[in-house]
Amino acid sequence: MPQKYSRYSSLLLLVVLVILLAKYIQREGKKAEYLAQGERLYQIHCASCHGPKGEGGRGPTLAVPRLSRASTKKLLKRVIRSGIPGTEMGRSSLSEEQISQVAAWVQDLGQVPPREVPGNAERCEHLYFTKGNCDQCHAINGYGGALGPDLTEIGLSRSADYLRTALTDPEADVPTNTLPFRFDVRIPNNFLQVTTVMKNGQSITGVRINEDTYSIQVRDSSDRLHSFFKSELVELHKDWGKSPMPSYRNVFSEEELGDVVAFLVSLRGER
Ligand code: HEC
Ligand code: HEC
Repeated sequence: MPQKYSRYSSLLLLVVLVILLAKYIQREGKKAEYLAQGERLYQIHCASCHGPKGEGGRGPTLAVPRLSRASTKKLLKRVIRSGIPGTEMGRSSLSEEQISQVAAWVQDLGQVPPREVPGNAERCEHLYFTKGNCDQCHAINGYGGALGPDLTEIGLSRSADYLRTALTDPEADVPTNTLPFRFDVRIPNNFLQVTTVMKNGQSITGVRINEDTYSIQVRDSSDRLHSFFKSELVELHKDWGKSPMPSYRNVFSEEELGDVVAFLVSLRGER
């Protein structure tokens, strides 16, 4: 009797396992189908601007682990649904289910493993601090200047190609007018280059930290903060499209450029 009982129970266990396995396969199949549907929609509606693999083009790269304007699934769906006003990223006519499918595919594109830093990691870091003197303007983990954006997590939000262009052609992605900021005002971190001239002729060029109707705060290249009442200035020039960052095209060799990019890609906020 006990033996028979145990034979029954192992049979039962087997049946349960088979059912669970079938359910699992079915669920994975559904997930794969969902993603495939997302990819199809992506190729039709998004690839022309964001590239067939999310590598970017007219629109930014989407193949990064964290999108600056769509850091969560909810925000991502909102960006797809409503677009980004004032930019080429328009609202979409997709159904809610299709939006979820495209969002799932976009998130899948972002599952890129961190790149190995080729060569000698120490050498890459050394270039950043010595020949590049990048810490004069950029901070990593709280160390460095604030004239340019913080780079602690830059590897999460920018692709290697984007970073390379940022080094060789710093003005490539600097807005040439106010349009991108009209709806999404990010004045404190848009690093707009401005030149101020005071009544005594003294002139300062730096990046705008803040601005209101009556005053403007500027950080100069030595990281000093200046605050002006606009009434004190004879000239306030906004250099749309200009970057205080020098081009490193002729500073680094091709190999060194690759090393610095690899170093930047490795910056993912982990200490
Ligand atoms: C006509 C070109 C165009 C098309 C088509 C387009 N986009 Fe965009 N997209 C852009 C541009 C340009 C931006 C950047 C807007 C800005 O922030 O200045 C953008 C931004 C985004 C962002 C925010 C990126 C970030 O770094 O946070 C996401 C996400 C996005 N698009 C997803 C999509 C998806 C998904 C589709 C297809 C349903 C799509 N886009 C179709 C041009 C396009
Ligand atoms: C004189 C100051 C200065 C120096 C030196 C400098 N940068 Fe920059 N950098 C800036 C400013 C300001 C910006 C923002 C405007 C722009 O995109 O050009 C910027 C932008 C960037 C960006 C783009 C960030 C983004 O999210 O779009 C990267 C990457 C970058 N710098 C890396 C570097 C590296 C690496 C070095 C050294 C090889 C360096 N910078 C040297 C001031 C500087």
